[in-house]
Amino acid sequence: MALSRRNLISLSAAALAAGALAACSDERGGDTADPAPADGTTGAAPADGETTPTGGEAGGLIGIAMPTKSLERWNRDGAHLEGLLKEMGYETSLQYADNKQDQQNNQIQNMINDGAKVVVIASIDGTAMGPILQTAADAGVKVFAYDRLINGTENVDYYATFDNYKVGQLQGQYILDHMDDYKNDDGSINLEPFAGSPDDNNVRYFFGGAWDLLGPEVEKGTFTVPSGKAPADSDGWASIGIQGWASSGAQSEMENRINSFYGDGKKVNIVLSPNDSLALGIQQALEGAGYTPGEDWPLLTGQDADLANVQAMVQGKQTMDVWKDTRMLGEQVAKMVDQLVKGEEVETNDTETYDNGVKVVPSFLIDPVVVTMDNIEEQLVESGFYTAEDIGL
Ligand code: GAL
Repeated sequence: MALSRRNLISLSAAALAAGALAACSDERGGDTADPAPADGTTGAAPADGETTPTGGEAGGLIGIAMPTKSLERWNRDGAHLEGLLKEMGYETSLQYADNKQDQQNNQIQNMINDGAKVVVIASIDGTAMGPILQTAADAGVKVFAYDRLINGTENVDYYATFDNYKVGQLQGQYILDHMDDYKNDDGSINLEPFAGSPDDNNVRYFFGGAWDLLGPEVEKGTFTVPSGKAPADSDGWASIGIQGWASSGAQSEMENRINSFYGDGKKVNIVLSPNDSLALGIQQALEGAGYTPGEDWPLLTGQDADLANVQAMVQGKQTMDVWKDTRMLGEQVAKMVDQLVKGEEVETNDTETYDNGVKVVPSFLIDPVVVTMDNIEEQLVESGFYTAEDIGL
């Protein structure tokens, strides 16, 4: 049964909130309460459409908390946002947390201690931040969730991201539009679905967008899933999640599936990979199993237009990518931070979708774009995201 987008989101948010509140109560003993904010603000997040009085003066310290340097896109995101804010006259504290939420929470505490006016957070596990965000609110520090929604707390003021559900829809629709090119002689199509890290709130949207389209086709028999790893519905993403979005995890999972379920000449025809780091590991598994680009290489999806994956696309080892021009996300967040600091109306374009289990977080969504060999030059080179030689064109 495919859950509608709205059901998927509110159902999962409620479940998350329960978990988050439990997590917070476990952690609460570890945090010391902060003194009341000097400027008398309560730190409570603004109701939709309201501005937050933060003094109206541009400048001051903005914290930027990124999850890890080991996944390419976050290095781009962090450096770009830092540069934009500095150009606007802000000081910045850019920190990377090695994919460890407790490390990121400590970094955020330091940003608060250093007098940050706003912290921009791409969380690792957005359900384990209740206490630190209460500390931020108590200190009058405003909180932006960056790319990944933070759940189970009212102390998230804004969210800026790409349309995560649409990322999955674009992957699922591409598969439906091109599956006939990957049929076996007997008309069957062997599909292997993957999902991202179970602690990443985006995963439910990526997988939901794709599986709302593909799940019914699996039920109808359009696709077979020889590994049996086909979730019963769009909420089943955790059962096929790869922890930490690790390429190595995806590679070993793909190797296991090939070795266990693809004997006697059976071939993988299509792989749903939610992002590029997983797609890279899947490529390595396919190569190791003797698949050849242009001959029996499966349709392979991705997301982020990481350099290695765009190069792989040119080499025929990845079929499509969902590109999120993270320069646009950085520009949007820098603008919203500046508006918030100055006490101006903060620009959002979605005040319904992202229910974090406690409140609907006012958000700004940017549209992602499908990139294939048909438009790679126009999208990635003419936009200045890469040069032709970068990607091997
Ligand atoms: C997601 C992000 C994606 C993906 C993944 C690994 O939350 O939205 O772009 O790459 O993390 O970084």
